[in-house]
Amino acid sequence: MKAIVITKYGPPDVLRLEEVEKSVPGNIDVLVKVHAASMTYSNLFLVSGKPFPLRLIFGLLKPKLRIPGTDIAGRVEAVGGKVKKFRPGDEVFGDLSDCGRGGFAEYVSVPEDALALKPVNCSFAQAAAVPEAALVALQGLRDKGRIQKGQKVLIVGASGGIGTFAVQIAKYFGAELTAVCGAANLDLVRQLGADHVIDYAKEDFSQNGRRYDLILATRGYRSIFDYKRALNPGGIYVMVGGSWAQIFQAQLVGPWLSLAGSRKLGALTVKPNRDLAFMKELIEAGKVNPVVDRCYPLAETAEAFRYYGEGHARGKVVITVE
Ligand SMILES: NC(=O)c1ccc[n+]([C@@H]2O[C@H](COP(=O)([O-])OP(=O)(O)OC[C@H]3O[C@@H](n4cnc5c(N)ncnc54)[C@H](OP(=O)(O)O)[C@@H]3O)[C@@H](O)[C@H]2O)c1
Repeated sequence: MKAIVITKYGPPDVLRLEEVEKSVPGNIDVLVKVHAASMTYSNLFLVSGKPFPLRLIFGLLKPKLRIPGTDIAGRVEAVGGKVKKFRPGDEVFGDLSDCGRGGFAEYVSVPEDALALKPVNCSFAQAAAVPEAALVALQGLRDKGRIQKGQKVLIVGASGGIGTFAVQIAKYFGAELTAVCGAANLDLVRQLGADHVIDYAKEDFSQNGRRYDLILATRGYRSIFDYKRALNPGGIYVMVGGSWAQIFQAQLVGPWLSLAGSRKLGALTVKPNRDLAFMKELIEAGKVNPVVDRCYPLAETAEAFRYYGEGHARGKVVITVE
């Protein structure tokens, strides 16, 4: 089978399209013919070997994993003897970040627990966009952020992979939603349901006097003190990702700031695959529509890494596998 292979850390050019042995499913595994796989930050980290401390997970001198790719959608080709939930022909999606990756390939063997049945009303490319990004948005808003109907919610980074899900999920929970993004994407986030929009180049959400009950920031972008200033008493700030300084602030300074008042500030760690069935329901009910920015063929995966790494995606970036 064809797969994107990585043997050393570096820029996206280190990725090679190679012919490798087809995966063989174990007893509890499902062999999936991959139709689409989406880009995620952890794959950027795996290929670049940066930030350096992540090499403690991915391998100190070179990547321990040979084929990157976490978020996939495809069709079941074969199942191991002990697989109960799936059979050949089922359309599935899932996040392989806890089970060896390998999604940027024509086939991948996956434990059945990492998969769910794909929403029937979306394409493979849209389904591949869902697993990590939608669950970060859902778990950030619902579990960490304790979102309530009628609350004033601010999503910062609203037009990217996670943000476009967060906007739609916050509206599903009945929030009054303000979305922060660049000028080119204001119409997109309005169409997804935002009640108010802020162009980050023109207006500073932390200085305009407005306050929110819940803020979700997809990549930090600002200091934790700016977010604290923009929270109502009792409000919650959830940081999803960002620079080391922002992660440090959210994980170490956040708990101290939270002790000192009624506002809660902290970071999210997503629990992969836990809510895929719930996302399938939301998508099939028409409450959430995965936004795909661009699709690249498997042979152009390096180009997809370059584009996604620039940090200005409009929804998700997807690799399609013929
Ligand atoms: N906590 C977890 O468990 C977890 C799991 C997965 C990922 N993550 C983290 O999630 C982050 C990736 O998020 P993503 O995939 O949604 O990123 P993305 O797809 O690259 O989207 C980023 C978006 O932010 C917008 N943006 C750029 N600068 C901005 C600013 N100053 N203010 C507001 N918006 C701005 C960009 O729009 P413009 O084009 O208009 O600039 C773009 O649409 C990474 O930091 C990753 O580490 C965390």
